[in-house]
Amino acid sequence: MKKNNNFFLIKTHLFKLIRLFLAFLLKKEYRFALSVRLTDRCQLSCVYCRKKHIKYDIDLDILIKFLKIFRKKGGFYVILTGGEPFLYPHIEKLVRFLKENKFYVAMNTNGQAIENPKYRNILKEMDEIVVSLDGPEKENDKNRGSGTYKKIIKTIKYLYKNNKKIVLSTVLTRNNLKSSTLEFFIKIKKRYGLIVDFGVVSPYIFGSVNKEMVLEETKQKSFIKKILEFKQKYSIKELSKQILDYQKKPYKIRCIAPKYTIYVDVDGCVYPCIYGIGKPNMILGNIKNKDEFCYKNIYCDVCYCQSLLALNLFSQKKNSIISFLRWIV
Ligand SMILES: C[S@@+](CC[C@H](N)C(=O)[O-])C[C@H]1O[C@@H](n2cnc3c(N)ncnc32)[C@H](O)[C@@H]1O
Ligand code: SF4
Ligand code: SF4
Repeated sequence: MKKNNNFFLIKTHLFKLIRLFLAFLLKKEYRFALSVRLTDRCQLSCVYCRKKHIKYDIDLDILIKFLKIFRKKGGFYVILTGGEPFLYPHIEKLVRFLKENKFYVAMNTNGQAIENPKYRNILKEMDEIVVSLDGPEKENDKNRGSGTYKKIIKTIKYLYKNNKKIVLSTVLTRNNLKSSTLEFFIKIKKRYGLIVDFGVVSPYIFGSVNKEMVLEETKQKSFIKKILEFKQKYSIKELSKQILDYQKKPYKIRCIAPKYTIYVDVDGCVYPCIYGIGKPNMILGNIKNKDEFCYKNIYCDVCYCQSLLALNLFSQKKNSIISFLRWIV
């Protein structure tokens, strides 16, 4: 992990980080992070994601107005996502605004536009980049499309050269549930000093259901057991045992994510996370109506959200403070 990004975060937002820490301990609301789905556009058609990409983009003026309110209330962490966020027509303008206003900015990207100088410049502006990679070439390309692996690796090399904090987002499906996938990630982790975040494929995304890739319960259990063994053998700190235990045997969760973070969709609707899209009972409000979103109790049958599961488990005393804090830095 590149230390300069964490240093920037601590130096620029020290008081907010202290406020956040206290809020967690006292279980008080403090919305410090916001994920925004900038666009529905995408160059890929991954097997587990929505097949059709409608050309919807979030309204830039409304988003910037909302970001100003978010910042006034102490928010400082913005995660750009999509579709492919780079394909958002106003991406450069938005990134300029975010950097001028000293937000800590992360982007979740498929790493496909690496030959494009505009993309490379945007990556350089990011404080953190989450790149999706599902395993070695054969396994990754089965999930994410032929030829995607080579471009993702080029993107990782570029980010490494530019001293960026890199997190890999990996989705476990029927195509890549193999020991060789784990061995591959150990190698790549050592080579590029990055973080690997494993999630289990969700049958439900962006309002549509796709059960094709869903893992058989017994296979999923035994694979997660294998990840636990790898975790011990190679001392992989970021894979929390509590999260892996949950993935082995999921149960219904009371979601507290919206106390600390929100997810804004292209149409301005606010949800706890990506898996709320298409579920009317999970809508918390809309940024078009200023900041009229609320915190309400939400119960989820299974939490698929890689990043927010740590928070939810912590709130239910099923996660330690240490593994939970790893979620933030
Ligand atoms: C929707 S994508 C948007 C950002 C970008 N296009 C990308 O692929 O990195 C965000 C993340 O969701 C993951 N994802 C997509 N569909 C999923 C599903 N059905 N279950 C679990 N994760 C999924 C992707 O692999 C990616 O890491
Ligand atoms: S996971 Fe990302 S790259 Fe793949 S189709 Fe969905 S939005 Fe596009
Ligand atoms: S998937 Fe997880 S973070 Fe998302 S609404 Fe459900 S419990 Fe909350």
